Amino acid sequence: MPDFDLIIRGGTVIDGSRAPRFDADVGILGGRITALGDLSAASADSVLDASGLIVAPGFIDCHTHDDQALLSQPDMSFKVSQGVTTVIAGNCGISLSPLKPDTPLPAPLNLLEAHERARFATLGEYFDALRRKPPAVNMAALVGHTTLRVRTMGTLDRPAQAAEIEAMRSLLAQAMDEGALGLSTGTFYPPAMHASTEEIIAVGQAMMGCGGLYVTHMRDEGDHVITALDETFRIGRELDVPVLVSHHKLKNRANFGRSAQTLPHIRRAMQCQCVSLDCYPYDAGSTMIHTDRAMLDGRVLIASSQPHPECAGRDLTDIAAEWGISREDAARRLQPGSAIYFLMDEADVQAILAFDETMIGSDGIPVGEMPHPRLWGTFPRVLGHYSRELGLFPLETAVWKMTGLTARNFGLNDRGRVAVGAAADLVLFDAALVIDQADYAHPTRPAAGIHSVLVNGVPTWQAGRHLGARSGQVITRGPAGAGRTLHAA
Ligand code: ZN
Ligand code: CU
Repeated sequence: MPDFDLIIRGGTVIDGSRAPRFDADVGILGGRITALGDLSAASADSVLDASGLIVAPGFIDCHTHDDQALLSQPDMSFKVSQGVTTVIAGNCGISLSPLKPDTPLPAPLNLLEAHERARFATLGEYFDALRRKPPAVNMAALVGHTTLRVRTMGTLDRPAQAAEIEAMRSLLAQAMDEGALGLSTGTFYPPAMHASTEEIIAVGQAMMGCGGLYVTHMRDEGDHVITALDETFRIGRELDVPVLVSHHKLKNRANFGRSAQTLPHIRRAMQCQCVSLDCYPYDAGSTMIHTDRAMLDGRVLIASSQPHPECAGRDLTDIAAEWGISREDAARRLQPGSAIYFLMDEADVQAILAFDETMIGSDGIPVGEMPHPRLWGTFPRVLGHYSRELGLFPLETAVWKMTGLTARNFGLNDRGRVAVGAAADLVLFDAALVIDQADYAHPTRPAAGIHSVLVNGVPTWQAGRHLGARSGQVITRGPAGAGRTLHAA
């Protein structure tokens, strides 16, 4: 019998810990890395030649809206083509469970349902569906507070009452038992903006003492961003849970440059509580179609529109001119759908990406023909554009921000590193060539320079092609829960 199922020979390992790269062969047996070093004397069923390539842990996309796509697009090509082997679903307050089968879903929750109607009464049922029909990547899940509200409240434009809070808390407790990583909120969005801080704390009590994580698309990422950060920190302190600030950004021209204020503010909080953050490497965001002025401040591209699918990929200004109406009215007519908003300053994006504790998350929305290019390009863009071309940080740091750091913050103990005993989630890429090729005009072009991707030891993507493997696993919260590293100093 051969020593290994597979040996990756002759590559340079960047192990996900931020340590300098080293040359080593990687031996894989039973979906795990079982040896690392000179394996020239060992035998294997198959051999992958990695000479001239980097061998890194598969990337963990810590901020996704892939809940539905994991079931309806199980090849997950938009992720594996980038080297992503694990996704965290249920961000921004929106998750596919727990929901009743018949409730109409308000925006932005309806973004999850664009392909087909699949919703689940419990997280356990959702996980069972994924185990029956596994996708090509691993997944772990957060429970959305907006989803809990839709599940328990008749009307959403008010704070929840005591009985509703109690119902949400017990639904969250059940989901935590079933393996959720934590609770996400999207208090920026209409269905959750009426929730008070107290409501979130009361619901979040279901996470106390069980290693849950509080993840938030904050109430405000513009003028009142410091207040929103302080609310986030307070929720973390009162629940004694780690907090994660999702897709940290500064919106609108008046707030350009304010990362110089928010990042030191976050660092100060990190000295007394567990705080983490993520970022996508673009100066445009994407979400549901909004009609308010602040969101329509800059250039707006329509990504998808249910009533007007023909408008996907077009500039809102051009559509409004053609229809002879205002941009606000045009946006209203295009709802429901999603759009791309150019609302950020590139210097802030770079400062946030370069902040040492920032993880990489795509926030991609896998809907329609013209999505934001982050869906296909995020990880290679950080490696190729921000690390290699701009020199924002070394390649080892770039890899750490999408592997080891993320695994630590979410408590994904055997993922995110190339080490003996870890799951064999691996990506082989060419450090000189890796780059995103998706842009706003061609948003679904796969990245260049990604040589091979293995999920739980199974080759899944190779030489620009999906191999058809679907070896992803459902990852439930481990006994230790989310990472609780404090960042003194
Ligand atoms: Zn969000
Ligand atoms: Cu999001």
